[in-house]
Amino acid sequence: MRRSTGDTVSSPIPSPAWQALEAHRDEIAAWRVEELFAADPGRGPAFTISSGGLTADFSKQRLTDETLARLVALARERDVPGAIERLFTGQHVNATEDRPALHTALRGDEKVVADGEDVLAQVQRCRERMRVFSTAVRDGSWKGATGEPIRHVISLGIGGSYLGPRLVVEALAAIADGPAVRFVANIDPAALDDALAGLDPASTLVVVASKTFTTQETMANASAARRWIAAALGEAAVAKHMVAATANAAQAERFGLPECNVFPFGEWVGGRYSVWSSVGLPIAIAVGMPAFERFLAGAHALDLEFRSTPLERNLPLLLAATGVWNRDFLDIPVHVVLPYAQRLASLPGYLQQLEMESNGKRVGADGAPVAHPTCPAIFGEAGTLGQHAFYQWLHQGTGSASCDFVVVARPMGSRETEHAALVAHALAQSEALMTGRVTGNAHRDCPGNLPSTTLVLPSLEPAALGALVALYEHKVYCQSILWGVNAFDQFGVELGKAIAGRILPAVASDPPSLHPATTHLLNVVRKAAQGGTAR
Ligand code: F6P
Repeated sequence: MRRSTGDTVSSPIPSPAWQALEAHRDEIAAWRVEELFAADPGRGPAFTISSGGLTADFSKQRLTDETLARLVALARERDVPGAIERLFTGQHVNATEDRPALHTALRGDEKVVADGEDVLAQVQRCRERMRVFSTAVRDGSWKGATGEPIRHVISLGIGGSYLGPRLVVEALAAIADGPAVRFVANIDPAALDDALAGLDPASTLVVVASKTFTTQETMANASAARRWIAAALGEAAVAKHMVAATANAAQAERFGLPECNVFPFGEWVGGRYSVWSSVGLPIAIAVGMPAFERFLAGAHALDLEFRSTPLERNLPLLLAATGVWNRDFLDIPVHVVLPYAQRLASLPGYLQQLEMESNGKRVGADGAPVAHPTCPAIFGEAGTLGQHAFYQWLHQGTGSASCDFVVVARPMGSRETEHAALVAHALAQSEALMTGRVTGNAHRDCPGNLPSTTLVLPSLEPAALGALVALYEHKVYCQSILWGVNAFDQFGVELGKAIAGRILPAVASDPPSLHPATTHLLNVVRKAAQGGTAR
């Protein structure tokens, strides 16, 4: 057996701050959050902090002042302040790939020189090209091959090249006054078929977003989209209807796009941190470059506070530290993201990639197995939809979870009454998960005591959204430092890709030498296909 579920979680980290937290956990573990509130009615304001226009209420976490002090001591012991500086100044925080992770430079205006390269100048050039192009598409001066303006954008990409732009375009729907954007990620041909349905190639622009420009799903969809354009308008029309956002400009040009259609970004931008780069082009087209820049500015404001605020009041660090407390000390393996905003329905999916691809790691930076659990499993759903799906599990299941509620204070959409109901549901659930319910009837009892943090955005506008996304990015980075893992590689995703490459020829013909389990499953699939399918 190569692995059992517990083989990386061998022993607690033998550091003084970690051990102090374990001892402290043993002292307070029996306390319920309600009891902490009863002991300290001023707990709400005391555990609420703001940054970058966001407010976070940590008072429903199962912790005390002393817990926070000890978590901050752990952050000091791990030199989180030094790690923050290394991130912002372009040092090689991505040690396994030996490069910086400079997504903060994409939204900042500070000079950063990484590996001898003036990053700021490069960022500004790219942003300027995005401005010119997105403005031309929006005002109709960019014409398709037949002289028509662009009315629809198809955004192709997967992972970070999809989740970020989709989240932001959906979240900013209230101000989206440009061409309508449809997103396609899946290699399932139905995904592209459905997105193209009803569109006219003459008034459609395809944005291919891929850091590597080699990802199979995206390249298959890009080739199919190019054929769709060329079949209707001729091969020469492709240059008027397809552009790329990539760190591999040479590959985009080999694909057949002229250099002026390629919006490059640096290798130092991680895929899941790339929404701030030219990967955000569909956002700029949908809402305009000024709004995209307000999104960047909101993130930058959060960055500045992250970099300068003492750890005791540092919002990303505290969000990270409470997550580590829940995962490693209270032994809670699941984290649930609950945005009470339909336009943030894609936030849980976005955070699944950001957090689980970044910190879903079993070895530390030195390659040795970690001595403690790392990233929890993350799922979620827009409130109140989740209430009618999995909240039953939260309230009465046998598992345990921590939650992030995200509440938008000002109404989204046109009706204040319903917004009030939405907010009431969010507050009710955070209270219910804390208090639980004792009825004397076991079927109706809810144990409660599930820890939650509530993040409040004043309104769902670009700057607040930028701050929210940056907050989670920095949370993930701080957790990676506390756990001692590299947040910026993702070697685990390679295995399945390699096996799929071997299986693909066999799916269409006779299997050569596949794993017996796969041969069996392939036969099951083939048999089912013979029954006929809808297209
Ligand atoms: O899932 C693996 C991954 O490399 C992600 O990190 C990335 O966001 C996604 O694939 C897409 O990669 P690319 O932007 O290179 O197409």
